[in-house]
Amino acid sequence: MRVEFSHGYSVLLAVVCLAGVLEAQAGSPAGAVPPETLQARRAKVMEAMGTGVAVLGSAAVRSIEPHGPHPQDSDFRQDNDFFYLTGLETPDSWLVLIAGEDGSREARLFLPERDTARERWTGPKLGPGPEAAGLTGIDTVLPANGAEWGINRLVFGSRSPAWTGGVFVRRGPGRPEAESELVRELVFRRTGRPLTVHDLGHLIAQQRLIKDDDELRRLRRAIDITAEAQREAMAAVQPGMWEYQIEAIIEYVFRRNGAERVGFPSIVGAGVNSTTLHYDESRGPLDAGDLIIMDIGAEFGYYTADITRTAPVSGRFSERQRELYQLVLATQQAAIDSVYPGTTMGRLNQIARSYLQEHSGDLCEPGDCTQYFVHGLSHWLGMDVHDVGDYRTPLAPGMVLTIEPGLYLPAERIGIRIEDDILVTENGSEVLSRMAPRDVDAIEALMSSSSTSRN
Ligand code: GLY
Repeated sequence: MRVEFSHGYSVLLAVVCLAGVLEAQAGSPAGAVPPETLQARRAKVMEAMGTGVAVLGSAAVRSIEPHGPHPQDSDFRQDNDFFYLTGLETPDSWLVLIAGEDGSREARLFLPERDTARERWTGPKLGPGPEAAGLTGIDTVLPANGAEWGINRLVFGSRSPAWTGGVFVRRGPGRPEAESELVRELVFRRTGRPLTVHDLGHLIAQQRLIKDDDELRRLRRAIDITAEAQREAMAAVQPGMWEYQIEAIIEYVFRRNGAERVGFPSIVGAGVNSTTLHYDESRGPLDAGDLIIMDIGAEFGYYTADITRTAPVSGRFSERQRELYQLVLATQQAAIDSVYPGTTMGRLNQIARSYLQEHSGDLCEPGDCTQYFVHGLSHWLGMDVHDVGDYRTPLAPGMVLTIEPGLYLPAERIGIRIEDDILVTENGSEVLSRMAPRDVDAIEALMSSSSTSRN
């Protein structure tokens, strides 16, 4: 049956339907986080709280153009914890969780009200109401205007469940400023009722260490896209090019596959630039005989990959480059083979360094090659490239970490780093980034099959 609407009505309907799509990743290549997954995450956080109230602020819109008619944020990105618990990309919003002493668990969301005049410029936004409730699985979605008053009433009102555990708030740099201010208000205004303040950030970080199915789906896709970019970049590398041209190929592959942004500034460094750990200027030439490091990560649906490969600009490693490369690769494999539940990153680091020391031979004389391994072996991976979570936590199934040994010899213009993304499983590990060529033969074969002018 065909239903006819007046033009105005159909526009209004389209705007209403689009609003949620635009602010919950529903229309994005990654898709929305299922509401039941969000409910499970919030339930787990409240379980860990025991009893108490948690207040989380979203990210705020920035503006790259201070004098324009409205803020223009070239790349708004939601606060990680807020996205993890709500799936929403709406700025200037609040999430309140109440874990009652009686075991009751409540979540409330405060979203800015829609502004039709502004939406002429910005497009439809998600506001308080049933659509937001459907996307998040939170029944009560209220206007954020005057959220402080609303939260106060919610937390201290006579109809709120009793809670004695205190207020849970995130601390430290990078937290939304408004969040600390609001919580300070909440705490200090209630002079008649002493409140303990707990670190919500640590609690959520430990939970985020173990990826659920939706997180792993996003992470696997980010990693597959990044492996594809590594292959295309290796195929394109040849003397006479510039680092920024390789970076452009990499980031084109990211966007072509639906990645929304880079997870961190792409590191593409040839020659002596390969020895600067976080070189991200990409301005140098690709000279014959040099190595090029490509340390890159696509961000897909708020999760980032992090894969590093090292390739010879001329398509073949020199004897010296090959020997050093093989040593780094074998060191990495020794560490990967040691990943299993119960071990720690500290232990993996020891294993890698011992391996490197024992197998250096005369490659780095005087001394052994550990003197040129000048950074840590691993970091957590997830919504941030150096993801949250206590680095002393024993590995458990569902955690994802990088393993990335490297050697840096600026005097020889040699920087080598090999980095893979590892999922801890029940029996050991899975190398999620295995689609990016890693062996000398595989890299040389890919490069020789792809370029005529290099040879
Ligand atoms: N791959 C970037 C980093 O580990 O810092």
